[in-house]
Amino acid sequence: MKLAVIGCGYVGLVTGSCLAEAGHEVLATDNDAFRIATLQDGKIPIYELHLDSVVETVVREGRLRFTADCAEAVRAADVIFICVGTPPTDSGDADLSAIENVARLIARESSTPKLVVEKSTVPAQTGEQLKRALQVYARNTDVKFHVASNPEFLREGTAVEDFFHPDRIVVGVEDKESEQQLRELYAPILEGRFRCPVHQPNCPPAATPEFVVTTIASAELIKHASNSFLGLKISYANVLADLCERLGGNVDEVTRAVGLDPRIGGQFLKAGLGFGGFCLPKDIQAFIKLADRAGIEFGLLKEAERVNKQRIDRLLEKIKKALWVMKEKQIGVLGIAFKPNTDDIRLAPAIEVIRRLRAEGCVVRATDPEAMTRARVVFPDLSLLVDPYEVARGADALLILTEWEQFRRLDWKRIRNEMARPLVIDGRNMLRTADMQALGFEYMSFGRPEFAPVPSKF
Ligand code: UGA
Repeated sequence: MKLAVIGCGYVGLVTGSCLAEAGHEVLATDNDAFRIATLQDGKIPIYELHLDSVVETVVREGRLRFTADCAEAVRAADVIFICVGTPPTDSGDADLSAIENVARLIARESSTPKLVVEKSTVPAQTGEQLKRALQVYARNTDVKFHVASNPEFLREGTAVEDFFHPDRIVVGVEDKESEQQLRELYAPILEGRFRCPVHQPNCPPAATPEFVVTTIASAELIKHASNSFLGLKISYANVLADLCERLGGNVDEVTRAVGLDPRIGGQFLKAGLGFGGFCLPKDIQAFIKLADRAGIEFGLLKEAERVNKQRIDRLLEKIKKALWVMKEKQIGVLGIAFKPNTDDIRLAPAIEVIRRLRAEGCVVRATDPEAMTRARVVFPDLSLLVDPYEVARGADALLILTEWEQFRRLDWKRIRNEMARPLVIDGRNMLRTADMQALGFEYMSFGRPEFAPVPSKF
């Protein structure tokens, strides 16, 4: 079975290279010729754990090839994965123009049967439109197209691990033949017959992933429903954090105990600055729109979205309360990426926080282990420093906006000594209040008791 991956963004790169690692022959393409040239040069344009070594291996072994000729990729393939972007439009709907362009290309270039698989996150009923576009633009009306939906549940930062160790593989199909093709394609993962790029020499024991076969519309809905529910959980934890602040509880204790109930589960209950990135916020927005258009009021999600947007206001309130006058205050920022282990800053809460601090007249210095290059594009004149201790030097406050492990392991005693005022506002509840207290910091976080010692010099 020959595979083509159209779109070499994050999803396309991970999907294409991991399917090649699992033993398939993959031709990956993108209409961005510069991106393809970079990949052909052996450079990976995103930071994702293990991805570089997977790509290097499969390219060397001849199972993955990059081409700027999208038509060539289409002609050669039996199965085509559409992995193009579906960014939000101004109205919050998903922009499906790239999907339509790809459909037209496939229709035009195909002379053999194709299984066309939606991998990009798309609203329900896109499969229907895709099928129609393939039919109406087909040059050769004898060619048979099948359409399937195979949503991805990969998390940035652990995408390679998630690919090889998924909880479930969902395929939305219309016929047995497509189901069988996708089952064969994923057989190495389902049967544990792959060389794991993450765990050496052996993978930890894990349950066999379930191969879930649904209709195309259900598969499309499953993706939006999953991401929206994750956002809902996070917003729930964040409202609990606000309540804890008012009523004197500790949100870490509350969510831990709540999450021990297997019906609820402990993941995605971490309170703080809220969810960012290019998936959860945009998928919730698109799901709300989809429901609106279907005449279903999804107020639950609207509220989750509203709570999430307010997290930045809540952080700013904390900063203002602690600093009093904002103008010309020196603020150090640890973390810009929307979460650790990625260089992705799209819809990262840190970007908005930095923007607002600067608008208030603060002098901001920031660092991030991987996201500085991207941050420089957004803030060409922001002081971006590699060394976190330099970021802390002379600062009136230090903010933790992404919970990178490197930050947890800093010499916090040294940080305290570098700062003009030892004030840490932890937007990710990364550090322990007791530890910061012992080190003599004024320490604030979300939903946990605050600690502000009287400085010894008074
Ligand atoms: C998300 C989903 O988790 C994946 O399953 C999905 O495949 C992916 O979107 C996608 O649609 O492509 P991702 O965007 O990589 O993955 O990031 P998450 O790990 O979900 O984190 C999203 C945001 O929520 C981050 O800003 C993170 O800091 C925040 N978060 C996460 C919290 O604030 N609290 C938590 O408890 C968990």
